Amino acid sequence: MTRVAVIGAGPSGLAALRSFQSAAKKKAKIPEIVCFEKQDDWGGLWNYTWRTGLDEHGEPVHGSMYRYLWSNGPKECLEFADYSFEEHFGKPIASYPPRAVLWDYIKGRVEKAKVRKWVRFSTPVRMVEWDKKKKLFNVTVHDRRKDRMYTEQFDNVIVASGHFSTPNVPFFEGINSFNGRVMHAHDFRDALEFKDKDVLIVGRSYSAEDIGSQCWKYGARSVTATYRTKPMGFKWPARFEERPLLQKLVGKTAHFKDGSIKEIDAIILCTGYQHHFPFMAEDLRLKTTNRLWPLDLYMGTIWEENPRLSYLGMQDQFYTFNMFDAQAWYVRDVILGRIKLPKLDAMKKNSRAWRKREEKLENAEQMIWFQGDYVKELIAATDYPSFDVEAVNRTFMEWEHDKMADIMGYRNKGYRSLMTGTMSPKHHTKWVEAMDDSMEAYMKND
Ligand SMILES: Cc1cc2nc3c(=O)[nH]c(=O)nc-3n(C[C@H](O)[C@H](O)[C@H](O)COP(=O)(O)OP(=O)(O)OC[C@H]3O[C@@H](n4cnc5c(N)ncnc54)[C@H](O)[C@@H]3O)c2cc1C
Ligand SMILES: NC(=O)c1ccc[n+]([C@@H]2O[C@H](COP(=O)([O-])OP(=O)(O)OC[C@H]3O[C@@H](n4cnc5c(N)ncnc54)[C@H](OP(=O)(O)O)[C@@H]3O)[C@@H](O)[C@H]2O)c1
Repeated sequence: MTRVAVIGAGPSGLAALRSFQSAAKKKAKIPEIVCFEKQDDWGGLWNYTWRTGLDEHGEPVHGSMYRYLWSNGPKECLEFADYSFEEHFGKPIASYPPRAVLWDYIKGRVEKAKVRKWVRFSTPVRMVEWDKKKKLFNVTVHDRRKDRMYTEQFDNVIVASGHFSTPNVPFFEGINSFNGRVMHAHDFRDALEFKDKDVLIVGRSYSAEDIGSQCWKYGARSVTATYRTKPMGFKWPARFEERPLLQKLVGKTAHFKDGSIKEIDAIILCTGYQHHFPFMAEDLRLKTTNRLWPLDLYMGTIWEENPRLSYLGMQDQFYTFNMFDAQAWYVRDVILGRIKLPKLDAMKKNSRAWRKREEKLENAEQMIWFQGDYVKELIAATDYPSFDVEAVNRTFMEWEHDKMADIMGYRNKGYRSLMTGTMSPKHHTKWVEAMDDSMEAYMKND
């Protein structure tokens, strides 16, 4: 029997499991699926952990999510086309759920699909190699519960291990003798730690914006965000400012590129992550920065040099859950022989054309339409339930405008589901006043 290994049981890996289960439900003959997950539960980043550094087994902690994290985009843009929020919660809910609510939603679909039996938990993958003679992958894993390493052979491998877990950590002069807390966003867990502190945030992307906002919301004395290329440019409230890049630290004094200085208590490096696949043999290892079109992946998923290997969710992300689904269904159909791939040259030519288009993108709006076009092309190729991708793009546009208008208030807005047509209700509490991020608090009288 054909065997498929899936690495990771986050939203991307779970999309792969669901894609095969949905084919089986329609009476297709499917391969044996084995999903290796290094954590002891599924949901990937959405499965919150208080741990930082190393986990209970000495493995690098995967989690980069923190307490009080709410979705930073409307849930209507990430909704599964085959499992709506309304189906899961039994009623319409507001548009920006906190982490626990989204985790519950992710789990609901795969619990219904009964695919947990396919997952081997607490089992990090150590090495994936291609056996040229046998034309099979050797996948070596470590069962941490039994402390046993073993190798099994697979016809196909799907890498769905995420790429927001290994921090990119730049150096700044004087940081080694800074007299305060220094951490990367990956290790940030609770904004209350920074109550009454002067916090310096390095970076200008989503982590900078959200961790800065969290610190502000939970009572930091001041938040200063320092940027390398350009400021985020939102209308920040009092106690929140942006400055050009940090040049050096002298004691607790930060010196910025415009010559200004500020006394600070803590530094949070929101400087992004590395695509890091130490478990992939050199000839199979994706090497890319965080961008919308990584090379070497046909249709953004299929490893061109050996199409028995694929990667899910490796792009920078506006689209998330439903894009991972669209990719998973595509990969599934390649594995099932329903999609015939072009020759290597044609695959490379196709990827270069997407990359060329990606390089010309100038702003978030264009990037969203680019990724939307990609999702459209994927779903047209499979039986993943079709949905109005352009309407999702337009919801993203609204979101962008709502953020520009009110960075601390955009999460109070509501949008229409593109899957069910239902308008989401207003949340009972404004985001700046909602301190409890539990599912119980969120669902209360929605
Ligand atoms: C702080 C933060 C906030 C975010 N907020 C949002 C948001 O609000 N909305 C949104 O849509 N997206 C958000 N994202 C984007 C996020 O990337 C996706 O939502 C989603 O989690 C990606 O799913 P994934 O399965 O590709 O990766 P992950 O969620 O990272 O899951 C990968 C899984 O692979 C496992 N794994 C890794 N290595 C191995 C190995 N060697 N062996 C076995 N298992 C392994 C991990 O344990 C993990 O379970 C956020 C990301 C971050 C970092
Ligand atoms: N739900 C939420 O609210 C939430 C919260 C946090 C994160 N996220 C998600 O997490 C993912 C990762 O976001 P991210 O912001 O961590 O990473 P990112 O989008 O890759 O951005 C990395 C940032 O680091 C900056 N940077 C890198 N090296 C630097 C250096 N040497 N000096 C100064 N700045 C440097 C970059 O600056 P330049 O742009 O200037 O190059 C960029 O702003 C995204 O998908 C995001 O949506 C979501």
